[in-house]
Amino acid sequence: MIYKKIKDNIFYAGMNDKDRLIFDELIPLDKGTSYNSYIVLGSEKTAVIDTMYPKFTNEYIKSFDENGIKKVDYIIANHGEQDHSGSIPALLEKFPQAIVVTNAVCAGNLKEMLFIPPEKIKIIKNDEELSLGDKTLQFKISPGVHWPDTMFTYLKEDNIICTCDFLGAHFIFNDVFAVPSAELERSAKKYFAEIMMPFSFVCRKYVKQLKDLNVSMVLPSHGPIYNKPDYILNLYEDWAGEKGKNIVLLPYVSMYHSTKEMIDYLAKKLEDKGIPSIKYDMVDGNLGDLAIALVDGTTIVLGTSMVLAGPHPAAFNTVYLASVLKPKAKVASFIGSYGWGGNLFGKMTEMLAPLKLDIIEPILVKGKAKQEDYKKLDRMADEIYEKHRALELI
Ligand code: FEO
Repeated sequence: MIYKKIKDNIFYAGMNDKDRLIFDELIPLDKGTSYNSYIVLGSEKTAVIDTMYPKFTNEYIKSFDENGIKKVDYIIANHGEQDHSGSIPALLEKFPQAIVVTNAVCAGNLKEMLFIPPEKIKIIKNDEELSLGDKTLQFKISPGVHWPDTMFTYLKEDNIICTCDFLGAHFIFNDVFAVPSAELERSAKKYFAEIMMPFSFVCRKYVKQLKDLNVSMVLPSHGPIYNKPDYILNLYEDWAGEKGKNIVLLPYVSMYHSTKEMIDYLAKKLEDKGIPSIKYDMVDGNLGDLAIALVDGTTIVLGTSMVLAGPHPAAFNTVYLASVLKPKAKVASFIGSYGWGGNLFGKMTEMLAPLKLDIIEPILVKGKAKQEDYKKLDRMADEIYEKHRALELI
C-alpha cells in the first residue's frame, strides 16, 4: 500500500498490482497497473474519493488505521466499476456513519452490483457542491469516460480534479507524480486506445473543460498523478483528435507466406512513397501494440489467408476490435490468398460498415501472387497515396 501526501490534507492511498498481466481479459499490460484512492481531510469532514480493487480490500482498509484516519464522512464514487467501487462495502462497514456520494446513474449501479442500501447513498446533481469545512468538493457529471455513470470530483480551493478512469494509465510507480517518459506515454496511449478511444468525442469535450479550468493537478484512479496536467491533456488532444497520421496499418495472418509476401510488398511500395506502415502479426502479436497503432493509423489494409471457406479467425478478431474501438481510420482494404472457394472479405467488410470507411478494391489471389497481382498492389499503394494526400497527411 502506498500512502503519500499530495498537498496539505490531500493524500494518495493506492496499490500497485504488479501481478496483473492483462486488463479486461483483453489488453496485455506491460508491468501491471495501479488502483488509486484519495483522502481529503477537511476541517470538519473527511472524504474518500474512489476506493480499491477488491483483491486489495484488506490492505486498503487496514491502511486507514495505519495512517491515523479515524473517521470517514463521505465516500465519493466517481464510477461504479468494481476496480474503484469494490471496496465501498468494506469501507462502509469500517465507517458505518459514512455516506456514499454519487450521481443517479452510478447510484443505480452501486445498488444493483454491490448491494449498497439506498439509504446510504446521497445522490448529487451536476456542479453540486459538498462542504468538508475549509475544502469544497464540486461534482462534474461526465458520462461516457468510459461508462454512462462516470463523473469527476473537483477540489475547488486546491484547483485539483479527480477524474477516475479518464486520463489514467495502467502503470506502476513508487513516486506518485508523473515523470514524462516513453514508457508512461505508451501505457497511457494503450489505455486510451482500449478504454477511451470509442468515446473520443467526449474526451475532446472534457479535455477542453479541464484546460478551461486550468487545473493544477489531475488525480486519475489508475497511473500517476499529473502535477503538470498539460502533459496528459496535450497527449489526449492528439489521440482523441479527428485526424489520423500518415500511417498505414497492416495486420496480417498468413498460413503459407503468400499473404505475408503481399503485405511486405505493399509496405515497401508505401515506404517508397513516403508512407510509413506498421505490420502486425495477428496470431503472435501483442494486442496492445495493435490498439496503440489504431490510435494513429489513417488506413488499414488487412491480410488474411482463407481458412475453410472464410477469413482466419484472428482476422475476425482484429476487425471486431477495430469496429468497437472506433479508431480515426478513414480508409481500408483487404488482401488475401486462398486454396479453394469461399467468401474471404464479405463478412469483414460488413463488420467495418459502422466506421464508414472508404474501401479500396480488395486483392484476392489463389496461392501466391502473380505478376498481375503485384500490379494490383502497386495500384493499391497509388490509391492510398492519393487518399492520404487528399486528407492533407502528405
Ligand atoms: Fe472503469 Fe478503472 O474502471
